[in-house]
Amino acid sequence: MDIGIAISTKKLRFKLTSELAEGPSENLVADSVYLFAKTIFDLFLQEKLNRKPSSSIIIFNSFIPVIYLISFDFGYKLLPIKYLAFKEVNKLKKKIFLVFGTRPEAIKMAPLAKQLASDERFSTKVIVTGQHREMLDQVLQSFSIIPDYDLNIMHQGQTLSDITSRVLEKLTAILVKDRPDILLVHGDTTTTFSAALAAFYQQIPIGHVEAGLSTWNKYSPFPEELNRQLTDDLTELYFAPTPQSKDNLIKENHPAQHIYITGNTAIDAMKKTVRPDYEIPAAISKKQKRIVLVTMHRRENLGEPMHSVFKAIKQAAVDYPDTQFIFPMHKNPTVRKAAQELLGALDNVSLIEPLDVVDFHNYAKQSYLILTDSGGVQEEAPSLGVPVLVLRDQTERPEGVAAGTLRLVGTDQQTVYSAIKELFDNPNSYEKMARANNPYGDGKASERIAAAIAHYFQLGERPQDFSQ
Ligand code: UD1
Ligand code: UDP
Repeated sequence: MDIGIAISTKKLRFKLTSELAEGPSENLVADSVYLFAKTIFDLFLQEKLNRKPSSSIIIFNSFIPVIYLISFDFGYKLLPIKYLAFKEVNKLKKKIFLVFGTRPEAIKMAPLAKQLASDERFSTKVIVTGQHREMLDQVLQSFSIIPDYDLNIMHQGQTLSDITSRVLEKLTAILVKDRPDILLVHGDTTTTFSAALAAFYQQIPIGHVEAGLSTWNKYSPFPEELNRQLTDDLTELYFAPTPQSKDNLIKENHPAQHIYITGNTAIDAMKKTVRPDYEIPAAISKKQKRIVLVTMHRRENLGEPMHSVFKAIKQAAVDYPDTQFIFPMHKNPTVRKAAQELLGALDNVSLIEPLDVVDFHNYAKQSYLILTDSGGVQEEAPSLGVPVLVLRDQTERPEGVAAGTLRLVGTDQQTVYSAIKELFDNPNSYEKMARANNPYGDGKASERIAAAIAHYFQLGERPQDFSQ
């Protein structure tokens, strides 16, 4: 059989072309390569082929034993060969599963999923819980991610117990059947905590992306603060986005050698989404002088706090008719009902469906001001230089407040209205907040996380920490 074998190791590079039938050479590395190649080719010959591959190359990179089989014969018979080769090779790679379920987790795990999938040291699978449905699917589509498993757990009006028990049950079944070397979770949702618990029960190590964010107030944000703390108690490897989040983990007595400061993967995602030539459709912007982007969804804000903020927005919309307020409403029916009742009748308030992440990031970039209680938006806006009034009393993202881009205004109607008015009427106040800075990342968080995982498995050097 004609076969070319190219061998490349850290210490040794050479090329060998031989007939397999000739038998092994004198060289030890070449011998093992030969045996492995022969095993694979025997398999092809026994199980998969009626005829021999015409000409193929096997490349070994023995730092991690990865094999690529490239065939020059593109005949249909060769497809199973490729598959078989990769299947054998995958057994040698570290098996990493990523699990996520809501929109923000998906946006921040997407760049990492891509990074890990392109790394030959790992074989990667994506599990989605479907805690969100439409809003999750939007992100999967934007980043062209096809999950390997979809637990599809969402119910209208789901409770925290529903989410927890359904994720535990359905994810456990997968982990028992298809056990990874490490399971990666993200952030502080109920998907995050219950997935980590499922992995812990199977004694599978957990890597926590966006670890260490804290307000130390167990009811704000609720239940996220405790979801995060409990997840970190179960975690083996911590990917803290900032030095402050690392400090929080140290205060909780988590081991420093397992904490990596990586930056936030949200900034990695924005490198792919923000475009200078983007235009907000005129039907939504109404070509107004200023755009104010609004999002609000948090559990602790549902009811009176949310109504109070919507009344402040209504007051501002009436007083500033040259400003368009754009509110992509979360799919939560309670949010939508309140928004429609209080803001639905105003011409300069556009109540729209959740935006695709590419659109949202570009709307954010072109906005004069953002009003939000979202965690992710607080991380993204500083790098865009767009001021944010945070509709919460406390934040687990103090870096943006320290950098001056975020201001905590809570949910009181008069306080929120006055803060909006000040940023409209007082150019000095506005300029102080509208400065781009990157306390949350430099777009390389996924690279650092991949390197940290490799380091943990003794496959590479410890990466340098992200510094602000
Ligand atoms: C969840 C997270 C929160 C995160 C937020 C991001 C928990 C406890 N909460 O809150 O930390 O900030 O996601 O948005 O994990 N719905 C749909 N379609 C969707 C998404 C939601 O219909 O695509 C509706 C359903 O009726 C669902 C409700 O919204 O019951 C609330 O969704 P849920 O995931 O329970 O809570 P969120 O408020 O979205
Ligand atoms: N986002 C989006 N479309 C929208 C609103 C927000 O893609 O219509 C993005 C936003 O850029 C951020 C993330 O969703 O990356 C924030 O999600 P959300 O506010 O639902 O959750 P949180 O960050 O508060 O947990």
